[in-house]
Amino acid sequence: MVDDDATGAASTGLTDEAMQQRIDDLIAAMTVEEKAGQLTQYFYFGFQRDAEPHQADGSQDDGVPNDATGHELLSQPATVEAALGRGEGGSLLFVTDPAEINRLQRITVDGNRHGIPALFGFDVIHGFRTIFPVPIAMAASWDPDTIEAGQAIAAREARAVGIHWTFAPMVDIARDPRWGRIIEGAGEDPYLGAAVAVAQVRGFQGPAVGHPERVIAGPKHFAGYGAALGGRDYDEVNLSESELWNVYFPPFRAAIRAGAGNIMMAYMDLNGIPATGNRWLLVELLRDAWGFEGFVVSDANGVRDLETHHFARDLTDAGARALAVGVDLEMAIADPAYAHLPEAVAQGAVSEEALDTAVRRVLEAKFRMGLFDTPFVDEDLAREVLNDPDHRVTARVAAERSAVLLRNEGALLPLDAGSLRSIAVIGPLADSRRDILGPWCFDQDLGETVTVLDGIRARAGDVLVEYTPGVRPEQRIFPSIFDMFAGNVPQDPADFDEAAEVARAVELARASDVAVVVAGEWQNMIGENASRSSLTLPAGQLELLQAVVATGTPVVLLVMNGRPLDLRWAAEHVPAILDIWYPGTQGGAAVANLLFGDISPGGKLPFSWPRTVGQVPMIYSHNRSHDPKKQGERYWNEASTPLFPFGYGLSYSSFEYTGLSVDPSVVVAGGSVTVAVTVTNTGSRPADEVVQLYLHQRYGSASRPVRELKGFRRLRLEPGESRDVPFTLGPDELGYWNAAVRDWVIDPSTFDVWVGGDSTAALGTTFELTEG
Ligand code: BGC
Repeated sequence: MVDDDATGAASTGLTDEAMQQRIDDLIAAMTVEEKAGQLTQYFYFGFQRDAEPHQADGSQDDGVPNDATGHELLSQPATVEAALGRGEGGSLLFVTDPAEINRLQRITVDGNRHGIPALFGFDVIHGFRTIFPVPIAMAASWDPDTIEAGQAIAAREARAVGIHWTFAPMVDIARDPRWGRIIEGAGEDPYLGAAVAVAQVRGFQGPAVGHPERVIAGPKHFAGYGAALGGRDYDEVNLSESELWNVYFPPFRAAIRAGAGNIMMAYMDLNGIPATGNRWLLVELLRDAWGFEGFVVSDANGVRDLETHHFARDLTDAGARALAVGVDLEMAIADPAYAHLPEAVAQGAVSEEALDTAVRRVLEAKFRMGLFDTPFVDEDLAREVLNDPDHRVTARVAAERSAVLLRNEGALLPLDAGSLRSIAVIGPLADSRRDILGPWCFDQDLGETVTVLDGIRARAGDVLVEYTPGVRPEQRIFPSIFDMFAGNVPQDPADFDEAAEVARAVELARASDVAVVVAGEWQNMIGENASRSSLTLPAGQLELLQAVVATGTPVVLLVMNGRPLDLRWAAEHVPAILDIWYPGTQGGAAVANLLFGDISPGGKLPFSWPRTVGQVPMIYSHNRSHDPKKQGERYWNEASTPLFPFGYGLSYSSFEYTGLSVDPSVVVAGGSVTVAVTVTNTGSRPADEVVQLYLHQRYGSASRPVRELKGFRRLRLEPGESRDVPFTLGPDELGYWNAAVRDWVIDPSTFDVWVGGDSTAALGTTFELTEG
């Protein structure tokens, strides 16, 4: 059983000093092979083990792709178990069944002379059994408390089954929605991204590594992964110094300051050097400048792939170079490069001291997580934790808080269940248990998942709710590595007559009082390995929507997505559009509460929503240029403004901003300014508003963006209620990284400040900043 008060090394009953002593003793007693083993993390898939051997060579048909030579791309379970049995596997990932974790832990502990347990890691991205809205949706809540609460539950469930560490949060800034992994982060903005990163680290990990109901947080992917060339996952990244420091690093710095115990390196080349072998990133920045003391892991095969990048000569070179810059643990899909470390040490390619430093960091994580005392989990307790009904309530509230109302002409929403006789629910995503959860979940219970259709039916009372899909899923041209997980490839209904199905949907819409169309991307179209060259609604969903709208029945469009989609037509012709993202286990219940007005939407966009793919990347915080007046006319064929701006989101209520004040109006560099505003709910419903503050520096030693988010607060206001909202702008908000002087600077200048409900806020004032 766990001790709730235990944290840090104290949970092992050891002082820090005693822990270090035990680590010293272990290191002194270990062989080089055992040390290299501690630095190796293996993928382990139960479904591979359970698959029947049937091929001529005795290999298994386990759904795992082979490479061109027929070589298994993933280590076989037997190979991994043999390594554990030899004491040469320090960590595993992708095992989630507590009985299985206990079995593998037994092999590990019994298998090495020193009784060192294995650390179990997993991608707990937006929930474990209880699936929360996808991370971009959680960011759209602009609510650090909701985000922290969600990740604390994800951690509690994961830890209960024996997982000690999550490969999350993903804190990569993403400005190109063609990149599928935009869904895993907090969007385009470094200020919002940093706040979301901190909330996630706190939620996952608690105040320090070692809390018995939490897991180690591993912010990733260090650094710049979100800027993949052309939005093509894994491709190289070239970022300027200013972008790195001002945009891409802040969420990492914030996560590290919040105490994250681990960092995962990115796959790709950053400015020509693979991140995993990048001395500047790992040594000069992460360790020396930022003082990071936790352990660093490569991404999957990241160390081996130093050779694939044509950076390392061979695997021995790859292992030696990654270790030398401080990649402590290699996440290995197959044939770890770190298995060559003994050879590298013997050749003098890397020192045994470097090996010991990495082993120390890994052992420290194991001690702090209490693994030496409690390597096994209580399987009964795990069942209890996974079934906790409070977790589902928190997930529903999170889904309600993350939805963004994009359009509501004629106040079509909320629907009044009392005055409706019939609702048509249209679109295959409305009735899909798998898709509503989004990517990056593996241990969900589909049986308890509430679809949009289920949610509407349950909430609509006597109103007749009828459903028809209208279109069939579109299939990817190029399969995804995630296809190997059961249920991830959308089912294509047999004998689907598309014309007849659209006609059926039109008939249903015509006969109903209102049509709710659910449209977006199937979950395998977004996430890792799911870059896309267009942003259109796939699978004929636009044509379906157009046909339904043409009936004249009022239409509500629910968008299920993790990236902005091309909604140009909808934004002109569909009266109500609600972005529900992939809202998770309780998604349908949350959506119904929003549709029927039990709750007003209060989420805001964490990215600028482009009109079309040709505009990307599109950011609100661009520099001013010599022609600011024509900012919206950069293309001759279409406005160069977003369809919906960053920070945008409507409400069933309305808000007024008054009394903007700045104090003092002249501030000396190093000091701070208080900006205050009064926000009033001028509508007739209780509702949330996200108050946002934007800043602009008018002149200085660099051109600065036209606006940058520098403060926000989500408030709940009763009808008629007013609240004074103060923001403090200090050196962190007023300064920036200047690429000319290669340092942080605070320029004397005139600053514009605006406060409002999105990044186009018009209520503004100025203040002066003078030299000290
Ligand atoms: C992803 C990581 C993930 C890892 C383990 C990689 O392909 O880039 O984000 O944590 O797999 O699943």
